[in-house]
Amino acid sequence: MKFCTPGKLTLILISIFFSAFSTINAQQREIFNLQKEWKFIKGNPKHAATLNFDDSNWEQVRIPHDWAISEDFIIDGDGSTGKLPWKGEGWYRKELKIQPSFKNKKVQLIFDGVMAFPEVYINGELVGKWDYGYNSFYLDITDHLNFEGENILAVHASTKEHDSRWYPGAGIYRKVQMLVTNPVHVSIWGTYVTTPIIKSHYAEVRISNNIVNNSAESDSIRVEQLILDSQKNEVAKGSITKTIKAGDDKDLEVTLQVTNPLLWDTQTPNLYTALTNVYQNNKLVDQKETTFGMRTIEFTANDGFYLNNKRVQLKGVNLHHGHGPLGAAFYPRAAERQLEIMKAMGVNAIRTSHNVAAPELLELCDKMGILFFNEIFDKYDAKAGITDTTDFDNFAHRNIQNFVRRDRNHPSVFIWSVGNEIHDVQANINNGFKRLHTMLNYVDKYDPTRPTTLVNDQMANAALRHFDYYDVHSWNYGRRYRLARQLEPDKSVIISESASTVSTRGFYEFPLAEEKTDFTKSLQVSSYDLNAPEWAEISDDDFMWQQEENYIAGEFVWTGFDYLGEPTPYTNAEVKKMGMKDKAAARSSYFGIVDMVGIPKDRYFLYKSYWKPEETTVHILPHWNWKGKEGETVPVFVYTNGDCAELFINGKSQGKKCKDPVSSNSTERFRLMWKNTKYQPGEVKAVAYKNGKKIGENTVKTAGEPHHIKLSADRTRIQANGMDLSYILVEAFDKDGNPAPLANNSIAIEVSGKGHLAGAGNGNPQSFDPLQDDEVDLFYGKAMIIVGSDFDAGTINVTAQAKGIGKDSVKINVE
Ligand code: GAL
Repeated sequence: MKFCTPGKLTLILISIFFSAFSTINAQQREIFNLQKEWKFIKGNPKHAATLNFDDSNWEQVRIPHDWAISEDFIIDGDGSTGKLPWKGEGWYRKELKIQPSFKNKKVQLIFDGVMAFPEVYINGELVGKWDYGYNSFYLDITDHLNFEGENILAVHASTKEHDSRWYPGAGIYRKVQMLVTNPVHVSIWGTYVTTPIIKSHYAEVRISNNIVNNSAESDSIRVEQLILDSQKNEVAKGSITKTIKAGDDKDLEVTLQVTNPLLWDTQTPNLYTALTNVYQNNKLVDQKETTFGMRTIEFTANDGFYLNNKRVQLKGVNLHHGHGPLGAAFYPRAAERQLEIMKAMGVNAIRTSHNVAAPELLELCDKMGILFFNEIFDKYDAKAGITDTTDFDNFAHRNIQNFVRRDRNHPSVFIWSVGNEIHDVQANINNGFKRLHTMLNYVDKYDPTRPTTLVNDQMANAALRHFDYYDVHSWNYGRRYRLARQLEPDKSVIISESASTVSTRGFYEFPLAEEKTDFTKSLQVSSYDLNAPEWAEISDDDFMWQQEENYIAGEFVWTGFDYLGEPTPYTNAEVKKMGMKDKAAARSSYFGIVDMVGIPKDRYFLYKSYWKPEETTVHILPHWNWKGKEGETVPVFVYTNGDCAELFINGKSQGKKCKDPVSSNSTERFRLMWKNTKYQPGEVKAVAYKNGKKIGENTVKTAGEPHHIKLSADRTRIQANGMDLSYILVEAFDKDGNPAPLANNSIAIEVSGKGHLAGAGNGNPQSFDPLQDDEVDLFYGKAMIIVGSDFDAGTINVTAQAKGIGKDSVKINVE
């Protein structure tokens, strides 16, 4: 079965056309997605790479695969990396279907990410290895293949030398492709599209293709370059011919004019396709499509970031590579859903903290109009498997080369970051600035068209002026950008990690926290959104700073989604310090604006109300089920895009409150708070106003006992590609249909038909139930079931049976 990467429909059609009419002409490139029929074993059996090794007792797996995510949590394990058994080693084996016709071709494998230190073998011979688990790499396997017989690909992965402060995953967690080309072809990531001139009535598009001549003869090679619009109409065409010696490669570049270009921006992400045809002796030998967009980007010293000459405030979130119950295994739909949830909140940018992302994530951001802060390394001096013996120049060059060449055609990428909080670099320890300079030079070598940055956390080190090496100040938390900006006012500022507010969905404590670090022994964090770790701040502070300081280009909230690991404030050390010897630290973060399965916390509506003022938001917190607290103070907050709201409890007005746009207390600027309301069961209602006019209202009611559950799938039609997903929300209600916010019933999950259970979870950082089991507990009334497609069309039936309160079912069509 042949697969092509998304957006390459033309190529698929061309391949089908030719395979139907001719086999001699098995022309141009073929891309095989090596998704199915892999064998896997944990551990390190001897001779596992050899051709005749007996792997019959190994597990059958599919790629993407994360060998630790379905395992049991290690309750007293290290919370900072998610308490799952990801440390270890494993082997993968797969038979490659090599056709005799490949003999005269070039066969390469492209890995998008293997955690970690992959070693790749063909028929028992080591072909190559890579030393950075997050990066893409490729290998030429042509000379190792047996064109007449069997071929076994074996991959060894080991996380033993990999260190992390979040859950990194384990194994071949992103896709693997086999690329088969003629000897003359465009090299992998060899296309580079730039737009030196963009005017309203025309743009100049420069397209360079690195052409490899692996044939035995020197030859004259012609590149015909077309530009197609989004409807696949040709809008420009040109060509260039050059002689390329045998065994050599050359960049063949054409510059084309596009009239009245449709620009890429966050509202209308217009895309074009560069279609490259390569001819050798007038015979088409390679054809490749590259998606690109036209836009201008500029950071100004005093007025932030400009996209196509218009100021755009970056409303960003940080996202780790993991996907909750799916672990590190990368499913395009999981990423798309994540971006949809963030975009609906008003996000126009993401930062991939802190490593090379899956390439599909960039394709999605291009299509969805989301700006991409592209970062390669995290504190590599102590993390990410970079050891003292590493030859830094070589390591940085190889990794930056792959990172930049792979990602440089994406219009969404607006900045390159060489790293996050790299202490020795910021402090110039052991000649750290030289390493900074080395990294930046390599970025520049492969793409000089975008600004660069380094993400910092040590304010005092700004005095050493590392910022003289790069273009934009990027600082995490606590207004630490102050000193850098004072010393270098000619550069704009990005708050690369903002807020770090912590909370648990559905959980509230009063009295309200007086200090941001008021954490209790509940092991959960109150969702009044007033808590942050000592080094960080609440959301409203960052809104306020950006209002007061126009030069700030924007922020990236830590984080959009909760993730496995980093369970601040309930880390192993903190739980012990609080004297809770018998309690376990949490296994996932509290930082997310949404929980680990994508269910919004209250904060979601605070961001939405500020970032999307054009949409009506009237959100009330907390829930209104406080049995035993009748007559006691239960504060009520309202998050709204309105400027005022009136609050009613059981019909009685609690007064109208308005935001104070000049208050020095940031919460008073962005939220409405009734701190002394008394609890009586019944209903709380908020009516919101903007400029004196009512814009909307909302009501929260006291629910009776949980009575039934309801399932709602985000998509009831998915594709039979073995990769697609449907996320099914489980919610509990009382007999009158009011959401039951305290329901914690356990749910038995049954999945049958043409799909499988891919994961389940509930956003509780303290839950130690395995993430891919057929049981999940409701947590504050909600949980999530994730089902995945296989390769057959049909129906998936999903039934959830809630203990004591009945069941509900949903059907998913697989097409
Ligand atoms: C930052 C760091 C992030 C995360 C965060 C937690 O300093 O860059 O990766 O650890 O702290 O608050």
